[in-house]
Amino acid sequence: MVRRWRRAARAITAILTDQKDRQVLGSLAEIGAYQGKTFIGMALAARPQESVLGVDIFPGSMLQDLTAQLKALLPTEEPANVRLVKTDSTKIPTLDWIRLLGAPVRFAHIDGDHTRDAVLSDMILVSSHLAEEAVVVIDDYLHDWFPDVTEGVIDGLENSKNLRPVAVIPRSGPLMKGGTKLVCATPKAWKGAGT
Ligand SMILES: C[S@@+](CC[C@H](N)C(=O)[O-])C[C@H]1O[C@@H](n2cnc3c(N)ncnc32)[C@H](O)[C@@H]1O
Repeated sequence: MVRRWRRAARAITAILTDQKDRQVLGSLAEIGAYQGKTFIGMALAARPQESVLGVDIFPGSMLQDLTAQLKALLPTEEPANVRLVKTDSTKIPTLDWIRLLGAPVRFAHIDGDHTRDAVLSDMILVSSHLAEEAVVVIDDYLHDWFPDVTEGVIDGLENSKNLRPVAVIPRSGPLMKGGTKLVCATPKAWKGAGT
């Protein structure tokens, strides 16, 4: 369990660090913030002038719990603009998404509703407001239990011409603990990465 989490966390940290080293600026967003496993790392990686948006339907007390965790974990001198929004991502109009984010997205993690239509919708939404050098990571690509996600990703790439698949972060634990992540990037990010 820990190993899989660490691999994905290490890969996402490497992406965020590379962007920081290359002074890529923008907002950060996650669809499906859940209990914050990925979102908290994103919030910690954001620079003071960057906003971080987490969207989730947040059932039960999840929103309050994550808000409390963020307050406890984020250093008070780190004035990252962190915002959690309780809503169905597939119902967010593009203009509202752009308003919520402010600056175009430099990094997004898509991990919300796992149906084909929702993944397609989330990819179109995220790709509507991307920084020139943006990276979008999609969870559970090629997951045996969620073939709809893979179908949504393939259709999403067809409908998000500014994104191309560039890498995978392989699953390293049992299926129950999650799947492979697909890393997509804008052409400029792909060419600039690691330089
Ligand atoms: C697999 S969990 C996300 C895990 C999280 N990204 C992480 O790294 O730990 C999926 C999340 O998507 C949320 N979700 C499901 N359908 C959604 C929708 N239509 N809009 C927004 N969030 C949704 C669920 O409430 C759940 O918290």
